[in-house]
Amino acid sequence: MPHYYRLGQLPKKRHTQFRRPDGVLYSEELFGTEGFTGPTSTMYHINPPTQVAGWRTLYSTKPQYVEADTMRMRHTRSGLMRPAGDPVTGRVVLYGNSDVEMSVCVPAEGMGYHYKNAQGDECIFVHFGTGVLYTMMGALRFGPKDYLVVPKGVVYRMEFDRRQSGPGGTPADGGPSVEAVPLGKFLTIETANGSHILPPKRYMSHDTAQFLEHAPYCERDLRLPEMPMTWNEHGAYEVRVKARGSMHAYVYDYHPLDIVGWDGCYYPYAFNIDDFAPITGKLHMPPPIHQTFEGHNFVICSFCPRMLDWHPQAIKVPYNHSNLDSDEVLYYVEGNFGSRKGIEIGSLTAHPQGIPHGPHPGTIEASLGATHTAELAVMCDTFRPLLPTQAAVELDDPKYPASWQGEHFPKLKGGHMTLNGHSAAAAPAVQLAQMVQQLGAGARPADTWAPGGDTAPPSGR
Ligand SMILES: [Fe+2]
Repeated sequence: MPHYYRLGQLPKKRHTQFRRPDGVLYSEELFGTEGFTGPTSTMYHINPPTQVAGWRTLYSTKPQYVEADTMRMRHTRSGLMRPAGDPVTGRVVLYGNSDVEMSVCVPAEGMGYHYKNAQGDECIFVHFGTGVLYTMMGALRFGPKDYLVVPKGVVYRMEFDRRQSGPGGTPADGGPSVEAVPLGKFLTIETANGSHILPPKRYMSHDTAQFLEHAPYCERDLRLPEMPMTWNEHGAYEVRVKARGSMHAYVYDYHPLDIVGWDGCYYPYAFNIDDFAPITGKLHMPPPIHQTFEGHNFVICSFCPRMLDWHPQAIKVPYNHSNLDSDEVLYYVEGNFGSRKGIEIGSLTAHPQGIPHGPHPGTIEASLGATHTAELAVMCDTFRPLLPTQAAVELDDPKYPASWQGEHFPKLKGGHMTLNGHSAAAAPAVQLAQMVQQLGAGARPADTWAPGGDTAPPSGR
């Protein structure tokens, strides 16, 4: 984030003597990006940040992708996930490539350590749950529908409040049962190519980096770190560091959140998706209007409740489209998804760049009278093919690729259509059936699907 901010105590001039109450110098640290030519922050530690007491490598964090050479539509039902691990170990990568990884986490327990992602920025979207992100640069209280953008290198601990059931047994926040989601649930999109997650450049002034008037959000919508920030404590503290595709345990004899002050343009922040002001139009507006953040080779978009197109003949759901250079993954947050059938809260759909997609049968006609949409979804578009993990395959809805089958225009059923004054030829149903039957001959289960009849695509397991 290129906007200047400061928190806590600072000396008048940088790189000058700044002493603790006991007369010992604070330890200044420059937290710099892009070889110290990108955004930086300067921070002051109670203890030298270099005094490691010990370390060891814990486990690999490299996702294992499957079906890398198979292209198909996918519907991943993250609502079937059960609580596991903590807000770091419980993250289950579902899709990714060499640029970005997308994981979903339903933590079962809290973190007994602090964590640093030293290989990528993280954009955490909190679906359910409340709590505090305690970072080395201050605390960010979070709740449902908050994006938490945590740049590479920031040490933090994510603490959830325990969710509560109301008098009727229904959780007060309207989400899944407390048994299914005891603490919360969140989606994490993190860079795997070392790039930084930032607001789109076109929203910002070239000269000052101020958000421009056409941007769907601005500085006032961002929540920046607050106190508490500083723990002057000694003992044994573990900081887990994700780097080089592995998790490491680094041990210190002082609390890792020991900064008394910092300033600069590199820090974590929160942004609630309800503060995204959607751009609407007389006719359908394309997906870039939903863009919220970007990293190298991917974008993050927010599909929010909004007024629909107001041309008297407007079609309110998206047209069929081929996003020729991108794979698209949508995470469905709440509302009814006008152009999609069979989608649940917490579903992810993956639409690869090789084939067009569009409204489900019947949804175009059904949408024509609508004036607003209540859908809320987060999308990640990538410029390289997204690959599923085994976990995504295990949560797969095998019927999804067939969900566009059916009568799109029921009002015309049984009628006649003419093209350029000539009656359309009857559909060659017999030839189609033969061609479909041949699809399965000699193919691996994951690579084929014969539509029609009672068949559904195999899960690919
Ligand atoms: Fe799309």
